[in-house]
Amino acid sequence: MENTVVRTKVKDLLKSKPGIDVLAKGWVRTKRGNKGVAFIALNDGSTINNIQLVVDKTRIGDDVLSKVTTGACIRVEGRLVESVGSGQAVEIQASAIEVYGECDPVRYPLQKKDTSFEYLRSVAHLRMRTNTFGAVLRIRNQMAFAIHEYFHSKGFVYLHTPLITESDCEGAGQMFQVTTLDIDKPLPRNKKGSVDYSKDFFGKQTSLTVSGQLEGELGATALGEIYTFGPTFRAENSNTPRHLAEFWMIEPEMAFYDISDNMDLAEDFIKHLVKYALEHCADDIQFLNDKYDPELVERLRGVADTEFVRLEYTDGIRILEEAVSSGVKFEYPVYWGVDLQSEHERYLVEKHFRRPVILTGYPKEIKAFYMKQDENGKTVRAMDVLFPKIGEIIGGSERESSLKKLEDRINELGMSRKNLEWYIDTRRFGSCPHSGFGLGFERLLLFVTGMQNIRDVIPFPRTPKNAEF
Ligand code: 4AD
Ligand code: MG
Repeated sequence: MENTVVRTKVKDLLKSKPGIDVLAKGWVRTKRGNKGVAFIALNDGSTINNIQLVVDKTRIGDDVLSKVTTGACIRVEGRLVESVGSGQAVEIQASAIEVYGECDPVRYPLQKKDTSFEYLRSVAHLRMRTNTFGAVLRIRNQMAFAIHEYFHSKGFVYLHTPLITESDCEGAGQMFQVTTLDIDKPLPRNKKGSVDYSKDFFGKQTSLTVSGQLEGELGATALGEIYTFGPTFRAENSNTPRHLAEFWMIEPEMAFYDISDNMDLAEDFIKHLVKYALEHCADDIQFLNDKYDPELVERLRGVADTEFVRLEYTDGIRILEEAVSSGVKFEYPVYWGVDLQSEHERYLVEKHFRRPVILTGYPKEIKAFYMKQDENGKTVRAMDVLFPKIGEIIGGSERESSLKKLEDRINELGMSRKNLEWYIDTRRFGSCPHSGFGLGFERLLLFVTGMQNIRDVIPFPRTPKNAEF
């Protein structure tokens, strides 16, 4: 079959004026009809909406039409006409169909009755062809673009920090080791009996990064304002709907920002992204709203227009303790010094304030070594942004800029300085006040799409005991 016209994407066809010859290509979603006419819904991934093909069976025979089944890939030529049926403005009156790839209706996994998210995760190589995952992944794409655009417009430098590293930024020991040593054979040992990493690929022990922040600070103290946007890895055995072993993080880091500038940026950033989604992903968000989450659009608008609460950790604990005394039941205990669980965060956000909360002034014991210590010696200038449905969506802080205080904290925690001297140099040479934060990209997407499980907002989720595809 020859190209008489150029292929138009379904998204553009649906916006075109009728009365032109068109060429469309895509995958069949459904086919129905009667003796004389067949109706085919065609989707090419460019939009949540399908284009309807109307096929006169006297023009296109059963030899072709019998191969046009759900999942088959076809090429169709025809005339774009005003649709008589409701539901769409235009449709294609097909004059010729070529089947690029047939799709056995018996074996095609997406034909099964079971379309639970759990089942779809087991066929993640095909689930992108469903309406839901098409919508989620188009939103994911728009959000990635919006993030770059936001920082670019503010003059931030996009810094590429390494994925393989020698340091554990968060100090939580949740690193995946990277090695070329053959672990099936006896490992090289030093005199003390421990593994001799000088024989390993990098000549030292290395891991996949949990965060680009430490290298980001090197960038910020040279270029002023930077951000990273890349994959990060955590070997935490958390089988929850909010944790992945491989997730994407956006980490801005800014010289001369104090904690309050940092909070302003975080709030503006996230509101901008939510507004961008409402504006640029309206069809996909409406689809998810109507199918799964009738309050989604309302929730997004709410966050875009609301001022976030700014609350000290100590005051947050007091509110939670009062809730407990008035009969609210939490699974985990509440007291000053405790690391808040997501049930506590969600109580503050969803029940008490009914809007996003930025919690600051955390006890230093439950936060990372690099955070700026308060005068009281007990708290640090940390900030977590807590969101409805999600809990923590952003974690950040003002950084400790005093060489002495940073060194004291590293020693207090018994951390190895050997791998950190390069980082400490930022405080040794021209130290400056600075701040930053990390936004979990998939947590943001959970919020924007209303999906319930983080495994369903990334194409190929990595979680404990699962690294398929
Ligand atoms: O709070 P976290 O651990 O902070 C950092 O890594 C800092 N170095 C960030 C910085 O200040 N530059 O992680 C930041 C965010 C969390 O708020 C959460 O949204 C997300 O990353 N996150 C995860 N998302 C999915 N799966 C996991 N296992 C996550 N762990 C953290
Ligand atoms: Mg955190």
